[in-house]
Amino acid sequence: MSDDRARALEPTPGGRYAPATAALSPIAMPVVIVGAADGARRSCATATVMYVSLAPPQIAVALHPGSRTTVLVRATGELSISMLATDQLDVAVRAGRSGRESDKFAAAAIPVQEPPAGFAAPAVAGSLTILWCRVTHEIETGDHVLVIARVEDHLSGATPGGQLLRADRRYAALGDWLSGVAPENYPV
Ligand SMILES: Cc1cc2nc3c(=O)[nH]c(=O)nc-3n(C[C@H](O)[C@H](O)[C@H](O)COP(=O)(O)O)c2cc1C
Repeated sequence: MSDDRARALEPTPGGRYAPATAALSPIAMPVVIVGAADGARRSCATATVMYVSLAPPQIAVALHPGSRTTVLVRATGELSISMLATDQLDVAVRAGRSGRESDKFAAAAIPVQEPPAGFAAPAVAGSLTILWCRVTHEIETGDHVLVIARVEDHLSGATPGGQLLRADRRYAALGDWLSGVAPENYPV
């Protein structure tokens, strides 16, 4: 994120983002890196994600239209979603600063997982899980664009657990499991 944009996003009392800070920041979200590429231009941005359909599997990310990564996602209609682990906190911090170079992965020293056949979007090597997705819907939502995308390929990494989360404007770890797998039989 550029210094100017970071300053603009800083919630000042009564400022534009104060309601979001108060009402939305308690919502715990998984921290991901959105990756995209258009030819030699490669970019990535820290974001959060949720699933919005199970069959077919689809996810949603709210992207700022001014982000370079958003421009590449919209131009190509594809993106990678790298689910970060707690030991990748430094990646979340680096990708959260706006890049001016044409290859933000290289400029921010973010390790690249090359995409599978049929995709161009690079992802973050060493992530818990990586999803490669094609955009199905774009919906303008206030100051963001909600991008809904179908998951077409994925790479599962380490054993479950260890997810990096964001809540109360801080990074956090998942903590202990409180049940066995799907006691109510829900598929995810
Ligand atoms: C924890 C965290 C979560 C973020 N979530 C989002 C998000 O969901 N959508 C978004 O557009 N930007 C989000 N950002 C901001 C982008 O990562 C940031 O603006 C980045 O600099 C964009 O880079 P780019 O301009 O090189 O694409 C988040 C930043 C942090 C630190």
